[in-house]
This record gives sequence, structure tokens and C-alpha cells, in this order.
Amino acid sequence: MFNWLEKNPFFFTVAFLLVFSVAGLVEILPGFAKTARPIEGLKPYSVLETAGRQVYMKEGCYNCHSQLIRPFKAETDRYGEYSKSGEYAYDRPFLWGSKRIGPDLHRVGDNKTSDWHSNHMWEPTSVVPNSIMPSYKHNFSKNTDFETAYAEAYTNKVVFGVPYDAEGENSIKLGTLEEAKAEFMKEAEIIVLEMKNKDIEEAFKNGEVKEIVALIAYMNSLGQKRRAPAQNIQANK
Ligand code: HEC
Repeated sequence: MFNWLEKNPFFFTVAFLLVFSVAGLVEILPGFAKTARPIEGLKPYSVLETAGRQVYMKEGCYNCHSQLIRPFKAETDRYGEYSKSGEYAYDRPFLWGSKRIGPDLHRVGDNKTSDWHSNHMWEPTSVVPNSIMPSYKHNFSKNTDFETAYAEAYTNKVVFGVPYDAEGENSIKLGTLEEAKAEFMKEAEIIVLEMKNKDIEEAFKNGEVKEIVALIAYMNSLGQKRRAPAQNIQANK
């Protein structure tokens, strides 16, 4: 029936473009709908958390961990409320992952502490016997890249309209490079104290913020600290 089309390059191209555009729109248009807007109460990542997110990507944690809780009882019993699209509004790129060699981390900030992470990342079997997760000792000696994290946050603000320095309670302050650095150090100090690790404390006294500190700040942010409290999440369904 469509032989004539295949033999006619012009109409074939037109037909192809038509089908391709319709299929494209079906994929693209839902992105503009309400579902893609930030869920109520969602805050942007702080610069320290952004730095931690960069470490998470660099280390490829997403190869073993998902950040997407599916709406099944077995998942919500284990990980908490299932994930909503509006919770990823400031995630560029998304870190959904596709494989679960380890558990989902989308709400890990609600049930783990900084010193637990510190021990776990140094040597996973010290807190989870038989763990097959690799240890991440090198993140305890490498310094974080504050400038790149600030640049990322700044780009998100200017290019993608992420609400830094905006009105309203869903915004957080980014400010100038100096202001952001001061806030970065303030947040880092809290994590450093919580980690209870003498070497990390010593390095911090010399003005160094190790990658592990940023990574833990990011882990802690995966939960209610940045997101809507559970009842808001419910209301936004
Ligand atoms: C080779 C696969 C693998 C990689 C890569 C990996 N993990 Fe894991 N992770 C696991 C496994 C398996 C577990 C479960 C056992 C355990 O708790 O140690 C786990 C557990 C965890 C937990 C505890 C979660 C919970 O709710 O109990 C955290 C947090 C975590 N990983 C963070 C990370 C971070 C951050 C990275 C990257 C720096 C990373 N993982 C890289 C396999 C991996």
C-alpha cells in the first residue's frame, strides 16, 4: 500500500518528518505540564550539596544506586513515600540510575546520620557486615572543588531559573562568590563536627573541605531537608 511512498524521496521525507514530529511532541509536551514544576517546599541545592552531587556523579554512585522510589508497597515500606516528578525539578542531570546493586537513595537523608556515612564510606563492612560496596577512602583526602560547584549553582540560577536569591521561602541565598564561600564553610563545619573524624577536623582547621564532607552533605539533602515534608508530598500527588 505504501510502496509509492518508499519510491518517492520527497514525500517519504515529508511523511517521516510528520511522524517524527508528532512522536516528538508526545514526548516533549508533558514536560511543560504541571507535573514538571517543582513540588511545593522544594529548595535548591546549596553550593556544598552541589559539590557533593558532583562527587556522586564523578564516582559513578548511580551505577549501583537508584534515586527513584516506585509506587509499590514493597518499595514504600522500605524507602518511604514514592518519588514525585516535581522533586527532580532542580536535578540536572537526573540521577535516577537504572540498576540497584545497592538500595535506593532518594530519601536516604531521612534515615542515616553523617557519622554513619563517614564510617560507611571509609569502610562499608565496618557498619554493614558482608557489604559489597567499595570503600571510598580517596574522598577523605581530596579537597572539594568549591569554584566549580558555585559555577554550577550560578548557571542553574541564570540559565534555568532555579530560585537562588529569590523571594519566598522556597529560595536559598547564593550571593557573591565570597558570600557563597562563607556559607559553604559554615555548612561544611556542621558536617565535619557530625562526622567525628579527627583527620577531617584537622584538615578543616587548615581551611580544607574534603570531598567526603560535600558528599555527606548531599546524602543528607536527599530527604526532607530540601524537600517538602511528607504531608506536602502527599498533597502534591
Ligand atoms: C558496586 C556497587 C556500588 C557502588 C559503586 C556504590 N555503592 Fe553504595 N551500596 C552498595 C551496596 C551493595 C549497598 C548495601 C550494603 C551497604 O549498606 O553497604 C550500598 C549501600 C549504600 C548506602 C546505604 C543505604 C541504605 O539505605 O542503607 C549509601 C548511603 C551508599 N551506598 C552510598 C553510596 C555512594 C555515595 C556511592 C558513590 C560514592 C556508592 N554508594 C557507590 C553498592 C554500591
